[in-house]
Formats: sequence, structure tokens, C-alpha cells
Amino acid sequence: MRVGILTSGGDCQALNATMRGLVKTLYRRQKDVEIIGFLQGYKGLMYGNYKVMQESDFSGIINLGGTILGTSRCPFKKMRVIEDGFDKVEAMKKTYKKLKLDCLCVLGGNGSLKSANMLAEEGLNVIGLPKTIDNDTWGTDYTFGYQSAIDVATTYLDQIHTTAASHNRVFVVEIMGHKVGHICLSSGIASGADVILLPEIPYDIKKVAKAVQKRQKAGKSFTVIACAEGAISKEDSQLSKKKYKAKVEKRNGMSVAYEVASQLGELIESEIRVSCAGHVQRGGQPCPYDRLMASRFGAWGARLILNQDFGKLVVLDRNEVTAIPLSETAGKLKYVDPKGEMVESAKLLGISFGD
Ligand code: F6P
Repeated sequence: MRVGILTSGGDCQALNATMRGLVKTLYRRQKDVEIIGFLQGYKGLMYGNYKVMQESDFSGIINLGGTILGTSRCPFKKMRVIEDGFDKVEAMKKTYKKLKLDCLCVLGGNGSLKSANMLAEEGLNVIGLPKTIDNDTWGTDYTFGYQSAIDVATTYLDQIHTTAASHNRVFVVEIMGHKVGHICLSSGIASGADVILLPEIPYDIKKVAKAVQKRQKAGKSFTVIACAEGAISKEDSQLSKKKYKAKVEKRNGMSVAYEVASQLGELIESEIRVSCAGHVQRGGQPCPYDRLMASRFGAWGARLILNQDFGKLVVLDRNEVTAIPLSETAGKLKYVDPKGEMVESAKLLGISFGD
């Protein structure tokens, strides 16, 4: 049996742990397994850049961050675009057939899973494993990497907390998450942030200023604002996609946290600082929960392959690992529910969302 594996899109913790779980199960359950590791994600599959892996390559990597195969971003929208005469989809199919693969296993987030679904529709045997710190993959309650990112973001916010308190400052701390606010909401609550700004709950800057002033009146002269990188003001949320994109481009690379800080600066007296947690949120060792989930997801992925149950994504559904068709998840995002229990609990705790 020949199984190809690739890791695609932004990296995260537990990519190696997931591959280990998958491969360990395959070696245990099937004789004559050969693993082909494609290097730098879909690019490796396109250009036939791969390594024949040994069982030992997957030993001792359960706690290793990053990916032993490397990764890259190959946007889905460009997959079918022929560039300089190069047909990416045909090239990937050619490599798959040339290597006589029985299955291709894609560890990826939303865009990468859309491409995995496209390859499944093209007739390849494909399975997906849900990767991303953002936890925004539709159809699964959990994506590996998410808890490790929450841990890093929470520590980051904790550390900002002490310096904010010492200097009586307001801090706008930017947290990753792309178009959704899962990491920001979780780490914001876990670190005791005073304000949380999410893409799913457009903010009114006057309400944010009020929350800061309310704290000041109560004798708390510092405020920590956890701001998701996709946070958006009420005004901007009314703009068309095109107009909003144009507005973001005018920021010249400055992210939303800087905009929040500058708008807030016109309404309050306090000293304001911005701090962006950035890529450390997806770096370093996976936390124990991610190693556990990676191992469960990996084992289930191997089970799909052994049962020849292709075209599926391994998911977590109410704490049970199972699988759904790739076609069901492709192209959909899982957002924070603004009316859900977590947001309601945060509000009960006195956290402002600026809404
Ligand atoms: O999808 C993971 C993620 O870290 C997002 O949270 C963030 O928006 C994006 O990747 C950053 O991408 P890049 O690594 O390309 O800068």
C-alpha cells in the first residue's frame, strides 16, 4: 500500500503528531506500507518533489512543532489557473498516478481541504485531516493546533496584563484567527481580558471607550482589549466586500488593532499601546490536548484508508472522532456564534464586546 501525505497552508502545532498517529496505525495494521511525503504541501505533489519516508522518520515527533514535510500556501482559487502553460491539477494527478498511490492524505485548513475535495472529484482517493489554529473548519468541533494557539495567546495576554497594570495603560492586543474570532474569544476569557473584539460582533468604538471609562471610574486604570485580527467596526461591516478591501489596503499594512487604538485615542485620555501576538501563536510544541487530538485524528485517518473509505474529512463531533464527506465542508467556515453560550457567559462575566 502506498500512501502520500502532505501538509498544506499555514503551519500549526501537532502537524507532526497527526502524521505520526496516522502512519503508526498504518504500519501496525497493514503489511508493506510505503509512505511518500510530499515536500512543501501541494507544490510537492505538483512538481513531484517528494521523499520516500521511513518508519523511523515518524518516531519521536509527537511533541515537535512545525512540519517535517514543510508547507506552503497554494490558494484554491489559483488551482485551476494555468500559469506559464503549467496545469497544476493535471500535474498533481500525474504525480499521483506515476507513484501508483492508493491514497493521498491532506493535513490542511479550509483552502487546502477545498483543494483536497477538488482532487477527490477528479477521481483521486483522498482523505483530509483538520488542521488550523483558527478552528474555523466547518463540520468539526475541533481542528488540531487550536488549543496550543489558545495557550500561547493566553500567556501573551497574561504578560500584557501585568505591564498594562503597572503603567496604567490601555493595551490593544491583536490575536490571530483570520476571518473568525475563536482564538481571541477563548484566550480573551481565559486571560481575563476586559474587552474582546471579534469579526462576528462588529464593534462601536464609542462603546469600547465607555467600557474603558467605566473601569476607570471603578478605580481600574488599565484595560486589556483582546482584538481579533479580523475584528471589524459596525460602520465597516456595512461596506461592500470591495469597499472594505479597498479601505484595508489604505491602512498600508497596519492591522485593525492600530485602527482601534487610534480611534480610541480620540475618545479617551489614557496612554494606549498596541501589541500583536503574531506567528508565535502557531509555533513551538503542541500542548498535550493537541497531541491527544492529533493521535485520535491520525488513527481515524488510517482507519479510513484501511477501509478504503475515501473522500472524507476526519472530524470531532461532540467529543467523538468520526468522518464527514469532504464535499460537505468544502467552502464553508465555522464562525463564533454571537448568540452562543460562550459569548453570553463572557458578557455575564462583564466582558464588553463593544456592541
Ligand atoms: O490560518 C492560520 C493563520 O495563522 C491565521 O490565523 C492568519 O490569518 C494567517 O494564518 C497568517 O498567514 P501567514 O502565515 O501567511 O502570514
